[in-house]
This record gives sequence, structure tokens and C-alpha cells, in this order.
Amino acid sequence: MRALTVIPGEPHSGSLTEVPEPLPGEGSLLVQTIAIGICGTDIEIVEGRYGSAPQGRKHLILGHESIGRVLDAPAGSGFAADDLVVGVVRRPDPVPCSYCAAGEWDMCRNGLYTERGIKGLDGYGAERFRLEPAFAVKVDDELGDLGVLIEPTSVVAKAWGHVDWIGRRSSAWSPESVLITGAGPIGLLAALMGRQRGLAVHIFDRVRSGPKPQLAQDLGASYHGGDLSAVAHLSPDIIIECTGATAVMADVMTRTAPSGIVCLAGVSSGGQPINLDLGDVNRRMVLENRVVFGSVNGNRAHYEAGAAALARADRTWLSRLITRLVPLAKWQQALTREPDDVKVIIEF
Ligand code: BGC
Repeated sequence: MRALTVIPGEPHSGSLTEVPEPLPGEGSLLVQTIAIGICGTDIEIVEGRYGSAPQGRKHLILGHESIGRVLDAPAGSGFAADDLVVGVVRRPDPVPCSYCAAGEWDMCRNGLYTERGIKGLDGYGAERFRLEPAFAVKVDDELGDLGVLIEPTSVVAKAWGHVDWIGRRSSAWSPESVLITGAGPIGLLAALMGRQRGLAVHIFDRVRSGPKPQLAQDLGASYHGGDLSAVAHLSPDIIIECTGATAVMADVMTRTAPSGIVCLAGVSSGGQPINLDLGDVNRRMVLENRVVFGSVNGNRAHYEAGAAALARADRTWLSRLITRLVPLAKWQQALTREPDDVKVIIEF
């Protein structure tokens, strides 16, 4: 079967190659791939800046945002042929640490977790893949192929969940507004969930044209394009930072209203130091009870929360997040960023 492979650490090593069928040991569900979503992490892996291959091998099958149809499922697995499924990305560490033991592998403490298509385990970017039922999420037929958005939505559902937990430190926490920085898929899905919570949603992104402003507007959110001065007048209760850009991060750390919460959901590439008065940041955080926290990945509960958020969303709006569909044979195009991209999908 054909698979999209890469040699982690080696730039430009991505290729469409013939690989053996997945082995039954990889999971009792055999799934026919419909599509995979591409995100910044995949681009980093293909550029040789992230990721690792399964032990004893040089190449990794790419792809962690999946959607596929079950070809074969054993009786009693909870799945049947023809079910639409998405694979969970992370697997708990083998020790396991206390978080992984509790099913919260997204919070793994010893770093020995693995991730399909990213860290030490083959991904879903092959014509067929296998899944353990415990790491398969059933997709409602009504959501259909848009289920490919469940993985990025799980990341956002976790971020929102943790904002809620932190908010509960005060019985008076009753947020009214959120600022999302970065109108990529994660930012727009975070905005969707913000609207579903009835919040006033502001979205900041450097672009002023293309599909993003309209996508924000159709969600009932306010879009602020250009540079950071566009949001200088805002002081929201919550900020979800999705750019990973140093200047944006430095700005948002103290931009909330007092007692506000900032979630850093964007991953920075590092190497862009800036001049920051950390003492001033300290004063604003301590004297006004601000919280800044990081959030990555999602566990099973977050996939389910993500799927539920997508089920409540307008399908037409969701399908407009997918700005390019690329056939497998032209996979390189999917891994090259284009100015108007929001979510790019490779169709198998
Ligand atoms: C994925 C997460 C993963 C993270 C770090 C993201 O792109 O969506 O599931 O944990 O990368 O590897």
C-alpha cells in the first residue's frame, strides 16, 4: 500500500512510498484511510525540525489528523465495518507515569509517551492503518468526512477545559470575552467553542484579506487584522494564543483583564529572543492574579468534547475551514503553505 513517509531530522526526505500492510499487533481495527489533515507540526517534521521514527527504523509514516472507515473489526470491540473513525494521536508512556496511568496521556510527565505520525509511532498517512479500539473515536455519519477536524478540535477542547478549571479558583469567575490570537484552524476552532459558550469573541491575525476575516464574521466574532496595535484597546477575560510568535506571546501575557487567563496553545520554533521586562510582567501577573499556562494534545475525553462541539457547529462553516483538498499523488502541495490556507487536507 502507499504511504506518506519521512525520515525525521532529514529535511526534504518526504516521499510517497510502498510500505507493508499494517500488522494486526498495531490494533484490532483495520481502517481504510479517507483523508488526513495537515498542520504546522507535519510541516516541521517534513522540514526535519521535529518528530522521531519508530524504534529501529529510519522512516516514519506521517499523519496524525485522521478520518477513515473501518474495514474490519472484531466482535465485541464496539466497532463494526463501515464505521467512520478518527485515531487518537498520543499513546501513554510504558512506565506509566501517574497521569498516563489515569488515562491523561496528554499530561504525561516523563516524556516517554509516543504519538502516531509524530513521535515513535507510524501515523495515519497510509492507505490503511490499524487502531486499538481504546484509541479509536467513532464519528457521527452526519459529521462525515468533516470528522478530520476532530483531532485539532480535541486540542482546543483541552485548552478550553483547562481554562475552565483554572477559572474555578474563584467562585466569582464569569468570563464575558475571549481574544484568540492566530486565525489558523486551531484559532478558528477555539473561536467556535468560545461562541458556543456565549462569549464575545475577538480574533487577531496579521492577514487582512483571504478567507479568515469572513470566517470570523460568520461565527459572530470580531476580526482584527494587521499588527498588534489592532487589539491594543482590548482587555479580555481569556486569551487563547495560537500563533507561537514571540512578539504576540509577549504582548498577550499581560493583556487580559485583571484575574484573566492566558492559554498558550501555539508552539514556538524558538530562536527569536526579544527584549522583555520580566519584572514588569511579574508585577502585572502577581498584583492582578493573572494566569498564563501551556496546553498540548488531548485525551479521550477531549476528543469526545471536540466531536460534540463539531456536531453543534454549522456544517457549511466547518467545510469552509478546509481551504484546499489535495490528492495523495500531489502530497507535496499540501505540505507547502499558501497564503489563503486555513486547513489543508490530503485525500486518499
Ligand atoms: C498535535 C498534538 C501533539 C502536538 C505535539 C500537535 O500538532 O495536534 O496531538 O501532541 O502536536 O507533538
